[in-house]
Amino acid sequence: MREAVVRPLAKINLDLRVLGKRADGFHELRTVFQTISLSDRLVVRCAPASRTAVTLSDTASIADNLAVKAAHAVLQAAGRRARVEMELRKTIPMGAGLGGGSSDAAAVLLALPVLLGAGLRLETLLELAESLGSDVPFFLLGGTAAAIGRGTEIFPLPDAASRHGIVAAPGVHVSTPQAYRALRRGPVAELTNAANTSDTRSFQSFAWGLLRPEGGEAEAPGVNDFESVVFRQYPLLQQIRGRLRKLGASPARMSGSGSALFGLFPSPEQAELALEELRRRPLPQGQVFAVRTVGRAAYRRMWRRWLKPHVKEGPAGRESQWPPRSRYSK
Ligand code: C5P
Repeated sequence: MREAVVRPLAKINLDLRVLGKRADGFHELRTVFQTISLSDRLVVRCAPASRTAVTLSDTASIADNLAVKAAHAVLQAAGRRARVEMELRKTIPMGAGLGGGSSDAAAVLLALPVLLGAGLRLETLLELAESLGSDVPFFLLGGTAAAIGRGTEIFPLPDAASRHGIVAAPGVHVSTPQAYRALRRGPVAELTNAANTSDTRSFQSFAWGLLRPEGGEAEAPGVNDFESVVFRQYPLLQQIRGRLRKLGASPARMSGSGSALFGLFPSPEQAELALEELRRRPLPQGQVFAVRTVGRAAYRRMWRRWLKPHVKEGPAGRESQWPPRSRYSK
């Protein structure tokens, strides 16, 4: 059996605006995704077989795991039958807005074609990713990226220096569909108003601000439209955000539809001091993780390392090929 051991990373949303409900029932978004060092561990093994069988053992016993769906989707798209065995060790908190399940699924989309020797085009992977969930396509790219539409149309932003931060996961499970519904029912001001182009302009201003070496936060502060509705339901989350701000985090914000909060610090030393303070006076509940932002170049280096034995070595320059190509493909 061919085997790869990979570490699907979590994401945070540096900015997240919900514009309104679309004809397909999803909401139109403007967001900036960022991969962070918090990760799960996934082992993928596969061997050709006359009948397809996909199994997953995971530490959290997740029903209908997206990783299994992703494996079936890859096999179908590649026209292959295989025995696929996966082992998943969860670290990324679930239902926290950190994209853990989506990242696990995207990891299968990146790793399995390479193990199978199936050369799936990026367009095909994007289509499969989109069919699995709104956050999945971003993890095919990683780094910092703007997303529009359902959140599945992803445009890379340049890598900035890695920043140190803290993710606080208070262990509250926020239902994403419910959070969207609450946004629509709330006062108009809670939805970013698509007709009010000053809102979409301020999103652009945030994204452009990320090009400045010192980051975009000062000139165009980011927002997360979900904060007001989710904080109303869980006031503790707002308190945690306040605590992160007091400890010097800028920005300190909720990720996705919550419940995780993140804080990025001006220096690694300040992040370390904040972490020590949180150890001394812990948050009332949940887990705290020390994290770093992971840029696209680093994301790709990691992926190349994990898939190295199975990836086609090319002449200089070929290494930049993405997604990684299988050395077994004909
Ligand atoms: O695509 P995903 O399965 O992650 O979406 C979960 C739920 O979140 C959807 O069923 C929908 O209720 C909501 N959603 C939305 N608009 C988006 C993304 C998600 O309404 N752009």
